Amino acid sequence: MAFDIEMIKKVYERMPARVEAARKLVGRPLTLTEKILYSHLWDGTPGTIYERGKSYVDFAPDRVAMQDATAQMALLQFMQAGRPKVAVPSTVHCDHLITAKVGSSEDLHSAEVTNKEVYDFLSSVSNKYGIGFWKPGAGIIHQVVLENYAFPGGMMIGTDSHTVNAGGLGMIAIGVGGADACDVMAGLPWELKFPKLIGVKLTGKLSGWTAPKDVILKVAGILTVKGGTGCIVEYFGEGVTSMSCTGKGTIANMGAEIGATTSTFGYDESMERYLRSTDRNEVADLANGIKEHLTADAEVYANPEKYFDQLIEINLDELEPHLNGPFTPDLATPISKIKEEAEKNGWPTKIEVGLIGSCTNSSYEDIARAASLAKQVANKNLKTKAEFTITPGSELVRYTIERDGFLETFDQIGAKVFANACGPCIGMWARVGAEKAEKNTIVHSFNRNFAKRADGNPNTFAFVGSPELVTALAIAGDLTFNPATDFLTNEKGEKVKLDPPTGDELPTKGFAVEDAGYQAPAEDGSGVTVAVAPTSDRLQLLDPFAAWEGTDLKGLKLLIKAKGKCTTDHISMAGPWLKYRGHLDNISNNMLIGAVNFFNEKTDNVKNQLTGEYGPVPATQRAYKAAGIGSIVVGDENYGEGSSREHAAMEPRHLGVRVVLTKSFARIHETNLKKQGMLGVTFATPADYDKIQENDVIDIIGLTDFAPGKQLTIVLHHADGSTEQFAVNHTYNEQQIEWFKAGGALNIIRKQVVN
Ligand code: F3S
Repeated sequence: MAFDIEMIKKVYERMPARVEAARKLVGRPLTLTEKILYSHLWDGTPGTIYERGKSYVDFAPDRVAMQDATAQMALLQFMQAGRPKVAVPSTVHCDHLITAKVGSSEDLHSAEVTNKEVYDFLSSVSNKYGIGFWKPGAGIIHQVVLENYAFPGGMMIGTDSHTVNAGGLGMIAIGVGGADACDVMAGLPWELKFPKLIGVKLTGKLSGWTAPKDVILKVAGILTVKGGTGCIVEYFGEGVTSMSCTGKGTIANMGAEIGATTSTFGYDESMERYLRSTDRNEVADLANGIKEHLTADAEVYANPEKYFDQLIEINLDELEPHLNGPFTPDLATPISKIKEEAEKNGWPTKIEVGLIGSCTNSSYEDIARAASLAKQVANKNLKTKAEFTITPGSELVRYTIERDGFLETFDQIGAKVFANACGPCIGMWARVGAEKAEKNTIVHSFNRNFAKRADGNPNTFAFVGSPELVTALAIAGDLTFNPATDFLTNEKGEKVKLDPPTGDELPTKGFAVEDAGYQAPAEDGSGVTVAVAPTSDRLQLLDPFAAWEGTDLKGLKLLIKAKGKCTTDHISMAGPWLKYRGHLDNISNNMLIGAVNFFNEKTDNVKNQLTGEYGPVPATQRAYKAAGIGSIVVGDENYGEGSSREHAAMEPRHLGVRVVLTKSFARIHETNLKKQGMLGVTFATPADYDKIQENDVIDIIGLTDFAPGKQLTIVLHHADGSTEQFAVNHTYNEQQIEWFKAGGALNIIRKQVVN
């Protein structure tokens, strides 16, 4: 059995008392989100009222999930933690590194060859430390998690932003960086700012061409890509209970596209049906036993305006199918308005490819409904105008839809079935001709449609829709086709209309699979050797960072004074560098190459103070490192915004940068710097940024008395012999100061084991 029933039992046993304690404490009825959060406090029974959007709280998540691109650094760090086993149930999923090109088995085979050492590493490290390993071809992380691990009222973190998908089964599931995953696997608390709450009330019922996807496309249109930041979205109302569990998963999945921390739904019969059909009767029985705690208190949904920070209401009876895009998932257009918008904006209307599947939309129901349309192609003498592809979310779904004849139906319209993996959704799509960068339109049922995301072509206009709508549009080959009202001309010259999609929520014959692709870890992994070749250019075991030398840091060279926006992409670029995510030294060759040098306005071009020459940032820093000289990076506002990737903190640390001094930090990056034992400080007076000169040698004073809330001092030694000094602030607490002194949080975690 893949899921951990004992852990779920424990969560459910303690939940009623904790919910009761929280309700007493806050003195009012509780939302579902609050019930789950308060029953996962690191300190156990609730004893403090947390302020939404303000309080930082330590939580104890039940599970960790990692995908193969991010798992590499998370697990390399975990190996440093010195733990014999992971502290909470954890899994690794091989889904991001498979290129969609020819078709599922050929593509899977090529990936197994190309990524062999990465897969071998992930498999052996999982085996050693008690982590469940899902092999390449087993499926996409979030679909596999929904089928096997998600459970109502649970809390999980995952090293992928669409971890939020598990909210469809009533979890609080949140995307994090690898360093956070490492902490939780090592048995440490996980910190989150107590979120604000957005309530979305769904009235009415979905019907005809409208699908769950249209709910989130509509919500994205209302809230925009930033509207959910710092918030958890809780859906409720009659429209929710009439929707399938996997449909709820689709809605939760795309909560990432509105910037939400996560989304969730109260436990209902659709979830029970899903749990039972995916072989989890025991979980369903347990959930039924504490049902009232797995949804909000009745008063909350009766008077939602009193309990949520923001409330949105959508009537599903009136909701139209939507297409969102191009280039951003929040540009929402109801299908009846697409023609007009396309004309107005000059969107190419000929559809080249329709793509269904991905972690967002590859449930049995999604595929069944899309297949009901594909079936009509032959029945109505139509011909599919666009190319059509399917990326199933898991082997369980793929095997079952093959058994039930859907793949054959798709085959009849010339569809290509790619491996059960991310493929085109993450740009791993070897699309023929994409390099010509021609203007063209595709429609897909994925979640993101930023420029270049699917095929690398900046001129591909990608629109996001439900799998049903994508299939209908691929058949029509025309973006302006509204299947609810428009006719198509068939091969006989007759006008025909597509019937609205139909399909079972769950397979009537049950799910089936021959080999789901799961590898259970060894009972005792102590004898397992982790496979990392010392000659590898993709993987490198980590060495502990050195502890602080116990003195103030003097004589630091200015590496770069970054100007303007400096996101984690500027600090550690993605794209081709993804390949080196498991090799700290190699990926460090992208350190800060996207940052703009204040003094010459160029990227990746800074002055080497030892030679006076200008050169790339990583090479310059390597020269300082070779000479045993520390350096300092100066940044502007909100330094390190963007993704949570810890590489942006580990690379400077690895190459010998000692201090990052900015006007302000993005919170996650600041924490990442602290975790890696780096000093991250901010100008007490932001205008002091202007005092930094290109040839400065810099000291940071006050470290021997480093204490929470106490300022440090920066001394600038200018090239003309003059000096200036000013105060800098920091946000280190006692614990984080210990991280700094030890040379990184991992060094402390490791010591805790030894003692
Ligand atoms: Fe993979 Fe795309 Fe989902 S990259 S995890 S299918 S968002």
